[in-house]
Amino acid sequence: MPEFDINKLREEFPLFVNEKNGSVLDFAYLDNAATSQRPKCVIDAEMEFYEKHNANPLRGSYPLSVEATDVYENARKSVKSFINANSSSEIIFTRNTSESINLVAYSYGLENVKEGDEVLVSIMEHHSNLLPWQMVTKKSGATLKFIECEQDGSLDMEKVKNLISDRTKIVAVTQVSNVLGAVNPVKEIAKLAHEKGAVIVVDGAQSTPHMKIDVKDLDVDFFALSGHKMFGPMGIGVLYGKEAILDKMQPFLRGGEMIDSVSRYDAVYAELPHKFEAGTVNAAGAAGLDAAIKYMQRIGYEYMQERELMLTKRALEGLKKIPHITVYGSDLAERHTGILTFKVDDVHPHDVSEVLIADKIAVRAGHHCAQPLLQYLGVNSTTRASLMFYNTEEEIDKFLESMATVRERMGYGK
Ligand code: ALA
Repeated sequence: MPEFDINKLREEFPLFVNEKNGSVLDFAYLDNAATSQRPKCVIDAEMEFYEKHNANPLRGSYPLSVEATDVYENARKSVKSFINANSSSEIIFTRNTSESINLVAYSYGLENVKEGDEVLVSIMEHHSNLLPWQMVTKKSGATLKFIECEQDGSLDMEKVKNLISDRTKIVAVTQVSNVLGAVNPVKEIAKLAHEKGAVIVVDGAQSTPHMKIDVKDLDVDFFALSGHKMFGPMGIGVLYGKEAILDKMQPFLRGGEMIDSVSRYDAVYAELPHKFEAGTVNAAGAAGLDAAIKYMQRIGYEYMQERELMLTKRALEGLKKIPHITVYGSDLAERHTGILTFKVDDVHPHDVSEVLIADKIAVRAGHHCAQPLLQYLGVNSTTRASLMFYNTEEEIDKFLESMATVRERMGYGK
């Protein structure tokens, strides 16, 4: 495993460097599950596209347009290798995970889910992997069913097995919960879904930044990810789909560049993946995502995971020692993927967040776009600290020191 100087690594992130005096910013960014920070190589790659290669990709045959196409298609090849897809045709660029899952819901779900069928989701889905399935089941007359999780955030596979039946057409699960950090056994769920003839749709927004994804090994039918959660730009995401399934699907959006030919009343759509990429694409975003993938490959998941676990352990053990704090999910740091969601007795999560902000620590308070899970946990909102490998022990200690003062500062004594 390569060894890095974490301070040097942090210097690659412009936001962590205080431009005024060149020293590292005294601001702890612990909201990485919402969006990660971006290293300079990603920002440069996006800028370089506009500075050196800007033309409309896939359109012109003049050299600049060919260059723009190359940048865009090379990014697709990068994603293909990164998640171990069979072919670049299986990589559709979208804006984000929400758009990717909507594509599946509209183009696959509405066509294949009928009255009497069932769609199965887990209770811990982000709204982006729930609302599209509410829409599909409402429009088709199918039933939406839920896999509930255990106290520690895990799924009981016996319960999952019993919920998947011949009526199940789609199983939609997140690989990592954005609230609990729990990792779901996607490969096992895929196997159970396939045994009953269902397809599996995986929300990989929170997993891709933290663990190696191999869509062939997982044997998932669809996998969605967002660039901005994995050091890449906002506004670029990916939908992976098995070629045989994507081939049979109708386009989600119709318009420019996604056609083979058009007559007055009809159109022949382009081959994969362009059939699903209507309009001018986000080539600069794709270039940034390509740079983010190369950045992650340079650092390596092993190093990132080791640091994230060390930091998560420090934070979790520290929180457990402070009275009146409940951390949701597992007792084990290994099962949190860097995400710690908690409540402080008597103090509103937004007030917890305000105390932390006063101490220059950024966390997220609210329902984390997973309201059914919070209802299931019996709370309206929580506070969430989410870590990335580039966070430091000093930041965790600063967070814990601040957390230890929350109740007293809100007038509840120690
Ligand atoms: N999905 C993002 C989060 O969990 C926005 O914060």
